[in-house]
Amino acid sequence: MSFPAGFLWGGATAANQFEGGWNEGGKGPSGADMMTNGTHTNPRLITTTWEDGLYYPNHVASDFYHHHTEDIALMGEMGFKVFRMSINWTRIFPTGEETEPNEEGLAFYDTVFDELHAQGIEPLVTISHYELPFALTQKYNGWADRRLIDLYLRYCETIFTRYRNKVTYWLTFNEINCGMMQLGNFMGLGILNEGTRDFTNQVDDPQLRIQGLHHQFVASARAVQLGHRINPNFKIGCMIAYMTFYPLTCNPADIVACQQQMDELNNYCADVQVRGAYPYYAERVWKRWGVDAPQMQPGDKDELARGTVDFYSFSYYQSNCVSTDPAQAQSSGNLIGGAKNPYLKASDWGWQIDPDGLRYTLNEIYGRYQIPVMVVENGLGAFDTLERADNGTPVIHDPYRIDYLRQHIKAMEAAVEDGVDLMGYTMWGCIDLVSASTGEMGKRYGFVYVDADDRSQGSFERYRKDSFYWYQQVIATNGENLA
Ligand code: BG6
Repeated sequence: MSFPAGFLWGGATAANQFEGGWNEGGKGPSGADMMTNGTHTNPRLITTTWEDGLYYPNHVASDFYHHHTEDIALMGEMGFKVFRMSINWTRIFPTGEETEPNEEGLAFYDTVFDELHAQGIEPLVTISHYELPFALTQKYNGWADRRLIDLYLRYCETIFTRYRNKVTYWLTFNEINCGMMQLGNFMGLGILNEGTRDFTNQVDDPQLRIQGLHHQFVASARAVQLGHRINPNFKIGCMIAYMTFYPLTCNPADIVACQQQMDELNNYCADVQVRGAYPYYAERVWKRWGVDAPQMQPGDKDELARGTVDFYSFSYYQSNCVSTDPAQAQSSGNLIGGAKNPYLKASDWGWQIDPDGLRYTLNEIYGRYQIPVMVVENGLGAFDTLERADNGTPVIHDPYRIDYLRQHIKAMEAAVEDGVDLMGYTMWGCIDLVSASTGEMGKRYGFVYVDADDRSQGSFERYRKDSFYWYQQVIATNGENLA
């Protein structure tokens, strides 16, 4: 058997894409609540107030806020060992600046954690998953301002203390490296520059992003130390959107360009969080971007060195190629695209499907850092069709999803055999939820179908897809039976 005993099988979500109940229980608006719906070709908009005629899908999302008992029971039925979720910062501190937390928000997550434990499921909590209080964007331009560090730590202290006996696994920031891209301005850093409206084409000031990321690095490092003080058993990880790139050709210029892109997009953030210092090539990145080194305060370097993470987690959906030839055909991807790989097929959203790339990536990461690794997002966004069996039972046949997951689990198995210390796997969007990039409900990832459309119309009933039963047996056999 390849997967170790105690391997953490499960699924993943984020509060802003799953919970709904956006203005209930004392919750304040987060950045995600200011984003409209879009499609693959029609970008989401970021608005500073809710405009008539526009639709904001994260407000209702999958309505986990009112369906948590049923949803957690479904996870239990699948045999989940772990459930990755985020706490919505705005349920705890609605504007981010209150001195006292919102008790109703805290109580909600108490209930969720208790229900998970009753099913034998360990929570894995992302502290900040694209859910910055929007008030902090308006007042400080998000993480561009250093004062965000203390506000984040107040939030961390509150939840670490409250849930110290209920949660062991934490992630400080979801996909922190999305701040290395223009797209990450608003979603990852809460930065909204004058003139931004189109999510896929935001007004960009790279100097602010480099500074905002520095603040997040210090915040993450201080959170790791704080968490370990509150409960020495806490395991606190980083979370990287792993953008696997291959050189399109063996032209040495492509090889070097690819290496630099991997350093910039994947390693820059992880090196700081895992090794506790900026990497040697950081200056090359700043120079290429035409920015100055981030401003640091005395003590920042020590904080970074003291606050290194316990494990490395990442999302993996697809891979792309790097080419120095601008004429090469392009493909889309999670957060960023690249040159098309002639050997790969793509999803309906243009993300190239590459299971071998997961084995390659796991080896890259473990080879570089030698700390436990966890895949906390992976999956296929696809259109599903809800049908009725002869007896009227709703059925969803999703062989394409099973095939995608089977290939990726086989790749993980190979990586474990290679010697990678892999802790677990949480499939993204285990119950259908709103897409982060497009705001669609119709881009479905789940084992469980949520009966709602892109405008939150539907019964919100939950139906088991074929993949539900398949994953149940994968978990029951600890990854042995993938048939
Ligand atoms: C990751 C994010 O980038 O990819 C998730 O952490 C997101 O929040 C996931 O949902 C899948 O992307 P999308 O755009 O299909 O929702």
